[in-house]
Amino acid sequence: MKPSAIALLCALIGASAGAARAESATDPAEAGQRVFVEQCSLCHATNDSVLFGPGLQGVMKQKELVTTGKPPTPANVKSLILQGQGRMPRIPLDDARLDLLIAYLKTL
Ligand code: HEC
Repeated sequence: MKPSAIALLCALIGASAGAARAESATDPAEAGQRVFVEQCSLCHATNDSVLFGPGLQGVMKQKELVTTGKPPTPANVKSLILQGQGRMPRIPLDDARLDLLIAYLKTL
């Protein structure tokens, strides 16, 4: 290999390591927003307007979930998502994505 090719290779490896670091440093709420847009935004707005489901503004700050009467703890919201609720279908997400999603919902 020519020295210039080796230099290029090193630069590429360096760049991808940098990208990996940036990925892991991403704010959980920001990553959770991406999950929300993919999985939830079809039916839920992030303000108080009703789409197919209720708007989720302040969803983790209310005294109880309107639809279940349970406090909006991460565990209760996760099981609501996994099991579905009324007209909301169950949405199978792994625990890592659920955690990111909860981090985002807390910012609403
Ligand atoms: C197909 C439409 C649909 C999708 C997709 C959907 N939901 Fe829902 N969601 C609903 C409906 C409808 C309700 C109201 C349930 C009822 O009528 O009992 C609801 C209720 C809820 C509630 C309860 C709110 C409260 O205050 O009681 C939460 C929290 C919630 N959804 C979160 C989510 C999250 C997070 C996602 C994405 C992972 C999601 N939903 C995806 C339709 C949907």
